[in-house]
Parts: sequence; structure tokens; C-alpha cells
Amino acid sequence: MVDKEFLMIPGPTPLPPRVMAAMTHPMVNHRGILFKKLFGESRDILKKMLNISGDVFLIPSSGTGAMELAVQNFTHRGERVLVVDTGFFGERFYKINVAFGRNAIHLEIPWGKGATPEAVKEAVRNDPTIKAVFLTQNETSSTVLNNIREISSAIREISDAFIIVDAVSSIGIAEIDMDNWGIDVVAAASQKGLMSPPGIGIVAANKRAVDFALSSDNDSYYFNLKDLKKNADLGQPFTTFPVADFFGFREGLNILLEEGFENTYKRHEAYRTLVRDALKELNLKFVADDAVASPAVTGIYAPEGVNADEIVSMMRKYSVEIASGQGILKGKAFRIGHMGFINSNDLLVTVGALECVLKDLKYEFEFGSAVKKLLSVRRSLNV
Ligand SMILES: Cc1ncc(COP(=O)(O)O)c(C=O)c1O
Repeated sequence: MVDKEFLMIPGPTPLPPRVMAAMTHPMVNHRGILFKKLFGESRDILKKMLNISGDVFLIPSSGTGAMELAVQNFTHRGERVLVVDTGFFGERFYKINVAFGRNAIHLEIPWGKGATPEAVKEAVRNDPTIKAVFLTQNETSSTVLNNIREISSAIREISDAFIIVDAVSSIGIAEIDMDNWGIDVVAAASQKGLMSPPGIGIVAANKRAVDFALSSDNDSYYFNLKDLKKNADLGQPFTTFPVADFFGFREGLNILLEEGFENTYKRHEAYRTLVRDALKELNLKFVADDAVASPAVTGIYAPEGVNADEIVSMMRKYSVEIASGQGILKGKAFRIGHMGFINSNDLLVTVGALECVLKDLKYEFEFGSAVKKLLSVRRSLNV
């Protein structure tokens, strides 16, 4: 039964059968009539999802490509930028900025704590030369959901710097309202909350960000908004597109549209509650504080004396694939993804398997207590 696996990692995620079926569509011309129609529809759905009156660009890349495009096109070489770093992917935004010669400073927040509007505002106030602020909405490594609405509003009180948000692991999972929250740019990707295969990067930008990119130089040929925009205006991608992935992507967006974005966000909040309430029964410690806990992924410290990677590997005996801790949490924590085509049945299996693994490790707890809790919370949340 090698194919019967529960993929509970923070992306790529399991895919709905409708998405997989869509990917078997015969190959088409990526500048042909059908592709143009679906390409336009997808961009329109994403505009609605992100509430942006500007533009959405799709690129053949993973999320890191979208982040790199954002740095290259919406900032200048040598320019002062602030990167708010709540974990591994905040650090990545910093490294991309440094790689492209941006004069980047770091606001490092301890892992598991969210960035506060006050701390970000103070960092921006301390340096009036800051031209762009980079934020991560859902920090997948420290399993924190940053309050982008409040942070952006605090920045906007004192600065008109570009606000550029990594929403790779929050798009389709948590609300993001670009126009009303004052966000200029969002970088995201297909393979997490959008229930699609990896391969498509998403960059949403408002008019002032697009105008900036069109009137400035950047060092990239592939990730250049000028060519992207010229082609997007014709309803097509700049270069050859991953067509099969795109058919799946379009169907994933259809499914989210049918569910209703608000319902999708509420469903993920319920998954967060299910997992956390269940695991509290086992007296395990979470990486993220309750107040900032991610609706997309939950990070859990391994019990004293146990290597977290051992838990990840032992879970495979029960056909459940979870994720290791990243960066400073490697070996110390493990992560359970609750995004993509999963539901509370998958969480039931995952929590059950975790109880078995902990029992195998001779960790002391009341066997069955987490599963029992999950079942009762599931009934009360009706999820
Ligand atoms: C928050 C966040 N940003 C960026 C990335 C990088 O995306 P990718 O691996 O698609 O390049 C990830 C991937 O897990 C992520 O979770």
C-alpha cells in the first residue's frame, strides 16, 4: 500500500481529484485561445482573493522566484530596505536582498513570537531612508501568523515605503486584503493553500508598485516586470508556461471560489484549533504562542531527550508524512501541515499516528486522549 500516504507537510499538499484530472488535459499552446481564457480567469480570481485593484502576474517558478522578482523589481540596488524576520523565510527575504545588493537591515523577532506593529513601526521610524519593508504573513518555519493588517497600518502611519509581503504559505488560507491594508506587493506560490501542484509563482502589485518597476532598471531578464506586464496585457505569460500545472492551478482556484474564501479561512482556523486542542492533552509544547499560531501549520517541540527527526521518520511507519523543524528548530521540533486538500479525517489519522509513535518512544501520557479530544472538538466545531 505504498501509495496510501497522508501528506501532512506545509506544501506541497495533497491535490483534489478534480485538480489532478484537470492536469491530464492535452497540451495546448500557451499563447492560444483556451490558455488565454483560463490565464485571465485565474488572474481575476486571484485579484478578488487578494482584493487588489492593481495587477496579478503569474510566473513559472516556486515561491522563492516570486520573492526574488519582488526584490528585483520593487526596490533599487543600494536602497535601504527593512526585512522583518520571524523565521527561516524572513531570513530568506533578507538573503535575497543582500544577494541583489540592497542595503538591507534586519528586524529579528524570536521564533514563535509574531512581529508586533509597535516593533516594526519603531524600526521604520528609526530610519527614514527605508524605501521598502519586507514581511512574511505566515512564517512556515516558526509556525507563526503575523498580523499583517495591524503591522501595515502601523507602518502607514509614518511611512509610504513599499510594503512587500511573502504570502507563500498563507494565500488561500488566511485573509489578505491588499487594497484596504495598504500592501503594495504580495509574493506567493501555487503549491500550498491553493491546492495546486508546485511550479507557479504569483506576484500581485498595486499601480504605484507596477509604475515603479516599469520606470526602473533591474538586473533580471527572466523576472522582469516590463516583459511580464507587456505579455500580461495581451493575456499571456512572458515565457513558456508549465501548462499541465496551470490546468491544475486553474481548477484549484475554481474549487476555492466555490467554497467561498471566507469559509476556507474559517476552515483552516478550525484545523488549527483541532490540532492544538488535541495535542495539549499530550503536554507537548508548541513552537508558536497561541495568540499568533498559524492556521496553516503547527510546530511542536519533541519531548525532552527525543530527536524530532526521529518522530518524523517513525510517523512513516503509520503512512503519515510530517515535516521536520527548519533552521534553528532542526531536530528539536516537528511540523504538521494542515493546508491543501486535507480535512479533519486527515488530522484524526495524524494525531492518532503521533500518539502511537509517542507510545513507541515510551513517552508518558494517557493513550487515546488526544484523539478523543480531537473528536469532541471536531463535533463542536462541526468541521
Ligand atoms: C513562507 C514561505 N516563504 C517562501 C517559501 C519558499 O517557497 P518555495 O519553496 O516555493 O520557493 C516557503 C516555502 O515553504 C514559505 O513557506
